[in-house]
Amino acid sequence: MKLAVPTETRPGERRVALVPDVVKKLVSTGWEVCVQSGAGTEAAFSDAAYTDAGATVAPDVAQTVSGAGLVVRVNAPSAEDVAALPQGTTVLSFFGVAQSEDALRALAAKGATVFSFDLLPRISRAQGMDALSSQATVSGYRAGLTAAEHLAKFFPMFMTAAGTVPPAKVLVMGVGVAGLQSIATARRLGAVVKAYDVRAAAKEEAESLGATFLDTGVSAEGTGGYARELTPEELDRQRAALAEEVGRSDVVITTAAVPGRKAPVLLTTSMVEGMAEGAVVVDMAADQGGNCELTEAGAVVDHGGVHVVGMANPPSGMPTHASFLYARNVANVLGLMGPEGALAPDWDDEIVTGMCVLREGAGKAPAAVELLGSPGGAPATGGAQS
Ligand code: NAI
Repeated sequence: MKLAVPTETRPGERRVALVPDVVKKLVSTGWEVCVQSGAGTEAAFSDAAYTDAGATVAPDVAQTVSGAGLVVRVNAPSAEDVAALPQGTTVLSFFGVAQSEDALRALAAKGATVFSFDLLPRISRAQGMDALSSQATVSGYRAGLTAAEHLAKFFPMFMTAAGTVPPAKVLVMGVGVAGLQSIATARRLGAVVKAYDVRAAAKEEAESLGATFLDTGVSAEGTGGYARELTPEELDRQRAALAEEVGRSDVVITTAAVPGRKAPVLLTTSMVEGMAEGAVVVDMAADQGGNCELTEAGAVVDHGGVHVVGMANPPSGMPTHASFLYARNVANVLGLMGPEGALAPDWDDEIVTGMCVLREGAGKAPAAVELLGSPGGAPATGGAQS
């Protein structure tokens, strides 16, 4: 089966869905891989490296996707991208239905099948396929480095002949996969790190990396290991409990997210105003609306001398290793759904059904069913996946 890798079209995106090493492996199992010329350039993978790995390189998107049974991307295609795709093809990528409604309608009209990494069940068997985690690892690391770069102070303690410099105080809010990497990175650079999350399990994980965990008395375990959305009253209590700690911190890194929702606002303007001049906020949730009221995605806002960095598409900033890990996640999904060079998903497998947004044009994920209506044109029920 032909597997196509078009160039990403999201503005500013530097990642590519497959890297040459992984192409080589897929070609050896029988896939016919076609990469659009220049797709890997920003991630430091040349056309020649793909050709050496056994792929063909096509000059434009139309020739890349022509006749493809599977199109692998990092981001969801836009509605314009979908126009070039063959009828009945399969797309594997991150695919947030709420952000891609037009593309989803266009894909449904083409009878396409869509699998999304956003919907991968967080079970042990799927860990090697977990692109949310692999990309969050990159994002968390970059957030730590970005904070160090914007702070006009050292992270580590220095005892010099000229005097002693105290270590930077870093507070990480949201201790999921990304937050843990931010803690590890800030600790490696020598900062004193405190951390906070609404899930109890995060305490032990943060402490194992050398952070002190803050208990605000607000806990919000959701389903599937995720947090639930806080009530307005709980959010107020959380902010009050954290305001003083925020004021004492040189750096606050925020990574809090609730699946399918806008990011919770953990840092209000008045909390930022309580920080010292020169302090830094790095908001990793900028693309989801931001954890700080002052955040602007892709910009650095100076608010009374506090710099609020709104990280846009954080993993794209380290495209080589972000693509390297993503490509391995893709290969592991194909190990399950197409180990012999053609897609053959087992529709009784919870990973296959869990990731499925659209099957041959019919909505499967609840958000897709809600948008498209149930198969056959019946009114939408928003029911469970089948
Ligand atoms: P995420 O990206 O959805 O959220 C990031 C963090 O923000 C989470 O730790 C969440 O608890 C926290 N958060 C949400 N609202 C908050 C608030 N109001 N205040 C403070 N923190 C808040 O989460 P991510 O990183 O994708 O994973 C969450 C959890 O999922 C992991 O820690 C783990 O338990 C589980 N997981 C399991 C895997 C597996 O294979 N079994 C793989 C990856 C994650």
